[in-house]
Amino acid sequence: MNPLYQRSLISIADLTKEEILFILKRAEEMKKKTPKEMLKSKILASCFYEPSTRTRLSFEAAMIRLGGSVIGFSDAECTSAKKGESLHDSIKVIGGYADAIVLRHPSEGAARAASEATAKPVVNAGDGANQHPTQTLLDLFTIKECQKKLKGLNMAFIGDLKFGRTVHSLSVACAHFDMRLFFVSPKQLMLPDEIGRFLKKQGVKFSFHHGIEEVLGKVDILYMTRLQKERLDPSTYEENKEMYTLKAEMLKKAKKNLKILHPLPRVKEIEAAIDATPFAYYFQQAENGLYVRMALLSLILGERNA
Ligand code: CP
Repeated sequence: MNPLYQRSLISIADLTKEEILFILKRAEEMKKKTPKEMLKSKILASCFYEPSTRTRLSFEAAMIRLGGSVIGFSDAECTSAKKGESLHDSIKVIGGYADAIVLRHPSEGAARAASEATAKPVVNAGDGANQHPTQTLLDLFTIKECQKKLKGLNMAFIGDLKFGRTVHSLSVACAHFDMRLFFVSPKQLMLPDEIGRFLKKQGVKFSFHHGIEEVLGKVDILYMTRLQKERLDPSTYEENKEMYTLKAEMLKKAKKNLKILHPLPRVKEIEAAIDATPFAYYFQQAENGLYVRMALLSLILGERNA
C-alpha cells in the first residue's frame, strides 16, 4: 500500500515516522535510477507567491524527469492575485487544471487553507515562517546519507530560529530519531515556545545557546540558517546580521564526522573557504531535493499500491 497516494503534505507533523522513512527509501531508489515515464500525462501546478530557486526548480525538474508536465508561476504579480483574486478562488480554479499543486506563500496557514479549497493534493513549499516539510524530508535524507544513520545524532541549529521555517519543520521531525538538539540564536530570534513545548513533551533533549563555539565540538550536524530578512524588522536585522558567520578556522574544534548543512540561500553564514572542506555538505543537500521531491510526487501521483 502507498500511504501517500493522493495526499496533501502541509506540515511535517502530517507524516508518521514510518511514512517519512518510506519516502526516504523511495528517494534512495530515485537517486540510483529515475523511472522516466512514471508520471506521464500528469500535470503539476507550481504556484510560487514568494521567491525560490531550489524548491521551485527541483519540484519542476522532478516532475519533468518523471515524464510529467508543469504549469504555474514564479511571480504572483503576473497572476490575477494582482487584480484582487483570493488564494481560495485561485487554488480552486488551478485544481481544475492540474493533478497536484505545489504552493509557496508568505502567509502562515496558506497551504492548509489552499488544501481546503481543492480536492487535489497540495504540497506546502513554505508558508511564511511556519513550515517547510519537503525541505525537512530532503534534510533527513541528506543527514542519513552523510552520517549513515538518523538515530542518536547531535545536531545544532544556528541563526534565525524564530522565523526560519526549515528549523521549525526539521526540529519537530528530529523527535522521531532520538537526536540531541542545540539551538543557537540571538535572544530576539529564539525558537518559538510552542516548538520547545512540543519537543519537551516528546522527551527530546535540547538546550539553548548564543555562541557557535559553545556547541561546535559536540555535534555531528551543524544546520546553519540565514536571517529571514523579509520577515524581520530592519533594526533586528541590522543588529544581528553579522552575528553568526562560520569560518574555516573555527572548524579545528569540530568532530571528524561533522557535516555542515544549510537550506540555502546563504548570505554571510558560511565563508566560501569552507566549501572545499570535507565538512561542507550543503550543495549535495540542495541536489538531494530533486530525488526527495521525485519520490514524493511519484507517491502522491503514482499508483495506489506502489
Ligand atoms: N531551501 C529553500 O527553500 O530554498 P529556495 O528558497 O531557493 O527554494
